[in-house]
Amino acid sequence: PPLSEVLNLHDFEAIARVVMPEKAWAYYSSAADDEITNRENHAAYHRIWWRPRILRDVTHVDWSTKILGHPSKLPLYITATALGKLGHPDGELNLTRAAAKHGVIQMIPTLSSCSFDELVDAAEPGQVQFLQLYVNKDREISKKFVQHAEKRGIKALFITVDAPQLGRREKDMRQKFEAEDPAEVTGNKQQDKVDRSQGAARAISSFIDPGLDWKDIPWFQSITKMPLILKGVQCWEDALQAYDLGLAGVVLSNHGGRQLDFSRSGIEILVEVTRELKARRGLTFPNEKFQLFVDGGVRRANDVLKAVALGATAVGVGRPFLYAFSSYGFEGVDHALQILHDEFEMNMRLLGARTLEEVKPEMVDASSLQSH
Ligand code: FNR
Repeated sequence: PPLSEVLNLHDFEAIARVVMPEKAWAYYSSAADDEITNRENHAAYHRIWWRPRILRDVTHVDWSTKILGHPSKLPLYITATALGKLGHPDGELNLTRAAAKHGVIQMIPTLSSCSFDELVDAAEPGQVQFLQLYVNKDREISKKFVQHAEKRGIKALFITVDAPQLGRREKDMRQKFEAEDPAEVTGNKQQDKVDRSQGAARAISSFIDPGLDWKDIPWFQSITKMPLILKGVQCWEDALQAYDLGLAGVVLSNHGGRQLDFSRSGIEILVEVTRELKARRGLTFPNEKFQLFVDGGVRRANDVLKAVALGATAVGVGRPFLYAFSSYGFEGVDHALQILHDEFEMNMRLLGARTLEEVKPEMVDASSLQSH
């Protein structure tokens, strides 16, 4: 269908299911085991209800913010997703260009299909990009990559901590990964030998170090001045440890349901993290010094605003943009971001919130969320 008939981010998924090559669909859409967490990621937002305010002049509403000190026209960023060229020949460049047009931040994945430098070169002057790091067993490779990224102007490093081993994504495993040279699909040449018999995810991930430990954090702090954020935290205990080590923040995430099945949705984790960090360290959120991010299942501005109300600085969005460019290239991502802008304007007006500062915890009833 023409883009004008695509009305929301769910629509992109339904279209992608039909138009995408089976292998690419299997890699993008798959999740771990029985895919329960993947399903719950979005469903968790259904358990949060609004308490909007009325009779506030909402002629002008503004949903721009700052993420780690950098301006963003939306309280969301394009999160890291590997293998962009499986879905479209321009791969992650579609995301870089749409991010520039809409004033949002792109997190470049370690396993991008386009090379890291290509994605940095494609950015407009002043465009902010972050980097997601899979830590290599050979730390010298990671060190070089991180220091190169810092030199190239990357503004923050998101270290993925929820993937010491890749989850079983059976839909993907049933597909054989046939690219002759893995560099054809991952521009960053992180891996040496590749087992192609069990799907794309297995084929590209053998370099990731399962030995990564809290003890390694000071080493990362010694090799870069970029703010460090842990991506894939799932309980307040680990969030507290990250704060105590002086990190800049954490992403409450279960990797889009692709790692440990029966992990909770990021939005559920957010509730316990804000509560315990307030009780134990006196922190209030959103907090500039220690920023909380959430990803997984975010499909509408309504979802984003719930996370903001509960203390998140911003949220990450993954699959919807993959489905958008797989079906429509750059124009798809452009349209997806425009839909989100339109939804923000309407939602903020209906909530009675003129700025994101006015989207407060009192505005949501989250009492039916499970919380440890
Ligand atoms: C991911 N994700 C991911 N995360 C990461 O740290 N490094 C990576 O290389 C990837 N690759 C990747 C590929 C694909 C196809 C998907 C769908 C996801 C996880 C991603 O950053 C994020 O946590 C989730 O995608 C968020 O959930 P939604 O928005 O996809 O529901």
